[in-house]
Amino acid sequence: MAFFKKKKSSDLSELTLPEHIGIIMDGNGRWAKKRMLPRSAGHSAGSKVFRTIARYCSDIGIKYLTVYAFSTENWKRPADEVTSLMKLFKDYLEEALRDFKDDSIVVRFIGDKSHFNKELQELMVENEESSKDRDGMVLNIAMNYGSRDELVRAVKSIAQDVKDDKLSVDDIDEQAVSDRLYTAHQPDPDLIIRPSGEYRISNFMLWQAAYTEFVIMNKLWPDFTTDDLDEAIRLYNQRNRRFGGV
Ligand code: IPE
Ligand code: IPE
Ligand code: MG
Repeated sequence: MAFFKKKKSSDLSELTLPEHIGIIMDGNGRWAKKRMLPRSAGHSAGSKVFRTIARYCSDIGIKYLTVYAFSTENWKRPADEVTSLMKLFKDYLEEALRDFKDDSIVVRFIGDKSHFNKELQELMVENEESSKDRDGMVLNIAMNYGSRDELVRAVKSIAQDVKDDKLSVDDIDEQAVSDRLYTAHQPDPDLIIRPSGEYRISNFMLWQAAYTEFVIMNKLWPDFTTDDLDEAIRLYNQRNRRFGGV
């Protein structure tokens, strides 16, 4: 059972911390629209909130944080929106390399990197490489991530191993699938938070979320605060997780 290392915006010291939190960072476009701003302004505001919340989760002692930043379906968006998102990713990746040298956070990317331009791919690999020996929170940034795509890859990998006589059909079990996901060897998320009030999972961690607690919040992501994160943890603490038992 993990407890808070630090007291932050409110006293949550008596609560059990989720070991792994997932966040579907949604609502940037609506936030911008409400202010008559371009959608890119919403993404820019959302990226600042991402920095704040990632830091906060690390400070309070969360072990794994997975943020959904760009889905396999988000390429469908207008080209100028995709371009502005790629620019924000690049800015963040450069900033992380330049300014977070002494950080304890381990940065991982989940998703198919091969669709990004070469510069972004290199920045992602550099961020992973330079942070891999740290001992702090694991931050999974889901970029070009889709859970169905992830599962198809796992199935292909299993099929290949069977074909190569490395695995027998009888040995295919849940662990064999888990071990082939981007999140291999990480605990499943205990809590997934979706701001923006949408009651759907949008292709995020379909396998890993089998027994995850969901907290839907009506705030749009750029308005999300550390108090909202605390509130989600408080709500999580009120849940009775049974995992199919009694
Ligand atoms: C989330 O905000 C960011 C991405 C999906 C990249 P949206 O852009 O989906 O914002 P809404 O849902 O349109 O408000
Ligand atoms: C999910 O949000 C993906 C991210 C937050 C990156 P979307 O805005 O793409 O999901 P839908 O279209 O509302 O389901
Ligand atoms: Mg959305």
